[in-house]
Amino acid sequence: MQKVNPTQTKAWKALQAHFEDIKDVKMKKLFEDESRAEAFTLKWEDFYVDYSKNRITEETKSLLLDLAKEMNLEEAKAAYFGGAEINETEGRAVMHTALRQPTDASVEIDGEDVIPEVNEVKEKIKGFCDTVISGTHKGYTGKAITDVVNIGIGGSDLGPVMVAEALAYYHNHLKVHFISNVDGDHVHESLKDLNPETTLFVIVSKTFTTQETLSNATTARKWFLSKVAGAVEDGEAVAKHFVAVSTNETAVKDFGIDPNNVFTMWDWVGGRFSLWSSVGLSIALAVGYNNFESMLAGAHKADEHFKNTPLDENISVMMALVTVWYNNFFGAESEAIIPYTQYLHRFPAYLQQAIMESNGKSVDRDGNHVDYQTGQIVWGEPGTNSQHAFFQLIHQGTKIIPTHFIGYKESLHGDKDHHNKLMANFFAQTEALMNGKTEAEAKAELDASGMDAAAIEKLVPFKVFDGNKPTTTILIDKLTPESLGTLIALYEHKIFTEGILWNIFSYDQWGVELGKQLAKNVLSDLNSDSIASHDASTTALIQAFKK
Ligand code: F6P
Repeated sequence: MQKVNPTQTKAWKALQAHFEDIKDVKMKKLFEDESRAEAFTLKWEDFYVDYSKNRITEETKSLLLDLAKEMNLEEAKAAYFGGAEINETEGRAVMHTALRQPTDASVEIDGEDVIPEVNEVKEKIKGFCDTVISGTHKGYTGKAITDVVNIGIGGSDLGPVMVAEALAYYHNHLKVHFISNVDGDHVHESLKDLNPETTLFVIVSKTFTTQETLSNATTARKWFLSKVAGAVEDGEAVAKHFVAVSTNETAVKDFGIDPNNVFTMWDWVGGRFSLWSSVGLSIALAVGYNNFESMLAGAHKADEHFKNTPLDENISVMMALVTVWYNNFFGAESEAIIPYTQYLHRFPAYLQQAIMESNGKSVDRDGNHVDYQTGQIVWGEPGTNSQHAFFQLIHQGTKIIPTHFIGYKESLHGDKDHHNKLMANFFAQTEALMNGKTEAEAKAELDASGMDAAAIEKLVPFKVFDGNKPTTTILIDKLTPESLGTLIALYEHKIFTEGILWNIFSYDQWGVELGKQLAKNVLSDLNSDSIASHDASTTALIQAFKK
């Protein structure tokens, strides 16, 4: 991987000069060019991505593409898909894309084709899902499974829960629940209405060392065994109701889960990119293996698009370049993701981990502190709820917040009346954010309402919308397992591209370790009479808690 400070490239310097020229440009003005919408829209398969409502010109686009070239994006892409150890600090390849390859593909990691092994695990997932869904798999009292509880955290929770919610329309009869937080109230609240005879626990932890997951799994097993109460032998009951997803088979065995009930994964699959692996078991159980497979196929389509499409027509690349433009030149701190479908209500949360755990880095690939901004803050909620909550700040606040609007041409339940209302808001918001409302327009409106001149004068400043707020619109035909897979993978490749442009390692997450270590120390303070040495504030807080 090339290790170059992006700010030292010719393209970056040219972008800086160009920024000075166009930073105040009004998008409304740019739209005087009638070809603009077409020129800044990417149409591919069932995706229509319009990034014309951004503060960019053809020159911006071309300079950003120069930056991608100078940062050797094409070579980096080849290393990524070719199984090179691009996760250098952990000495690993980043190959979640191998999980969505067709079964007859061949992908080498360390000189070994991994596809046969991937296929084997997929067969195991399929076989298991078929027996659970059909009711052939019986619980300890001979009843079929009705509820599946996924216990995991981070990538072992957010991907599965986001997809399970997104594909709710495609669910079978199994009810899926997710327990992630070490907060005991989460696990106990979730367990209270479950029937142990018909509940299957899927313990998901790549490392099988994660405190939250092991605590929740232990509590769930204790609860379960208290209900079994010797009706059958404990080991036999656990074998029917507990399965695990992990790379750490020894730890799983030590926990008491039958090795036959372990669905393996590999260290070349990062946690936040793992929903395509056995980590997606709860998804496959909820929607059936065929739908899971369609999601993988959709992601594979995005992989091929990212790999083979010229940079200027490449959806992930262009979205990443636009992000860099705002993040590094306009000083935008965050990016909002607003899906106009309730099904995607966990998508912003999922992307928070995917994006912020990947690109929240302040050291470059040489180990030097960066002197430029990296990962953006990501947030969002579904439209139209978000319009009635925080859109005020996007419209009239002081911050620039590039916003992604994600919507679908078709609704799943086919209620045209609702869908047109939803999508009217979807289109109107991007229009309003761009056009704003001038003083003259605001005055004319108030005039027409019959208000007197003095009152108008007073009110008008509050009614003005500056506009010129950037948005990117992603319009997709329909929310299907396949299109969902494509959407997620397009964002994954956007993350990769940003990491390349910022010269950082996107696939480690050392930053989460310190808190974990300190929590261990504090826990022993909470469980004992003494308190080890902390700063004065922390010591006082612990004392207050223990009192
Ligand atoms: O703490 C961060 C993290 O390592 C994530 O990257 C990961 O998805 C999560 O913890 C859970 O890890 P595991 O699957 O090993 O329990």
